[in-house]
This record gives sequence, structure tokens and C-alpha cells, in this order.
Amino acid sequence: MILIAAVDENWGIGYQGELLARLSKDMNFFRTKTTDNIIIMGRKTLESFPKKTPLPNRINIVLTNNTQYACEGAILCHSIAEVVDTVKQYPDKDCYIVGGGSVYEEFLPYCDTAYITKFASSFPADTYLKNLDASHEWELTHQSETFEEKGISFSFVTYKRVVS
Ligand SMILES: NC(=O)c1ccc[n+]([C@@H]2O[C@H](COP(=O)([O-])OP(=O)(O)OC[C@H]3O[C@@H](n4cnc5c(N)ncnc54)[C@H](OP(=O)(O)O)[C@@H]3O)[C@@H](O)[C@H]2O)c1
Repeated sequence: MILIAAVDENWGIGYQGELLARLSKDMNFFRTKTTDNIIIMGRKTLESFPKKTPLPNRINIVLTNNTQYACEGAILCHSIAEVVDTVKQYPDKDCYIVGGGSVYEEFLPYCDTAYITKFASSFPADTYLKNLDASHEWELTHQSETFEEKGISFSFVTYKRVVS
């Protein structure tokens, strides 16, 4: 599985249910990677989307403990095991873990690649991703040039798992 996230300097990813920053180049990167593939998210992340609905042209898998929860256009799963079983039905698709904090933490052990958009700034945050720079299990394998948007400098960084 592949983790995709945008983090600030402190590996913060969210604040009060929202992203830290919404940059169009980052959104395009996310769309290009995930379109025609599978995205796996927590119920809170689904509800943080601007329309609070599944993203088009992707297989949306939403995790919730609530067996009454309904969401048109998404596959609902109630455990990690159910997600792992479900994605087996789509062997030709890439499987992206798209957040938020709890889902990143639960699925990081299943991921061998992480696409991280790194903001060179810090923001107020209440939700974090594990710092992959500080983990001996991950190695930075690619870093893009630096871009700037809305006064925020950022780059696209790829990490690969080196210890399983
Ligand atoms: N920077 C980024 O790239 C990025 C990406 C995505 C999200 N975010 C941010 O992250 C924040 C949300 O993260 P979060 O950790 O609060 O919430 P979350 O991970 O999006 O969703 C948590 C919910 O998912 C369900 N869930 C998670 N694991 C489950 C499991 N094993 N079995 C069943 N259900 C499970 C539960 O739903 P129920 O409560 O319904 O049971 C849980 O309350 C927001 O601020 C969002 O903007 C940032």
C-alpha cells in the first residue's frame, strides 16, 4: 500500500478537522496519483472533503465503527482486516492510504511507499503523521524542487520502506 499525505515541518497533518493548507499543486499531485486507483480513509477524513462525498473516479473505501453509517459511492469497512480483504478484489489497482491521523497510523505497517508533500512552515495542528525522517524503517529516495504557493514553500518527497 502507498501512503499519501501533506505535512508541515512538525509532521502535523490537520487541525480542527481540516487540512493545514490547501494548495492546488498538491491537490493536482494527489489527484494524479489516486485517480483510477483505490483510496482508503477514515470517516472523519471523508467528512472533511469539501462536498463530504467520495472522490470521483476512484474506489473510495471508508472506515467506520458505525454499522449504521451510509455513504453512497463508497465501500464501508469496519476493520483493518475487512479493508485488506476488500482490496484483494482489485489486484490491478494501486491502493492509497489517504488519512487521517488514525488511519495513517493503523496502515503505516502495510505501506512500502510514502508520498509526502512537505510544507517548509509550521501551522497550528492537532493531528500528526509519524516522522518518517526520524524512523530507521524509512528512507528518503526522492525530493522534488521547491515550489511556492500562497506564500508556502513546499516540495514532494518520496520515502521507501527499508525495514519491514
Ligand atoms: N494532511 C493530510 O494529508 C491529511 C489527509 C487526510 C486527513 N487529514 C486531516 O486529518 C484529520 C482527521 O484525522 P483523524 O485521525 O481525526 O480521523 P480519520 O482517521 O480521518 O477518521 C477516524 C475515524 O475513522 C474510523 N476508523 C479509523 N480506524 C478504524 C478501524 N480500524 N475500524 C473502524 N473504523 C475506523 C472511525 O470512524 P467512526 O468514528 O465513524 O467509528 C474513526 O473515528 C483532519 O484534520 C483532516 O483534515 C490530513
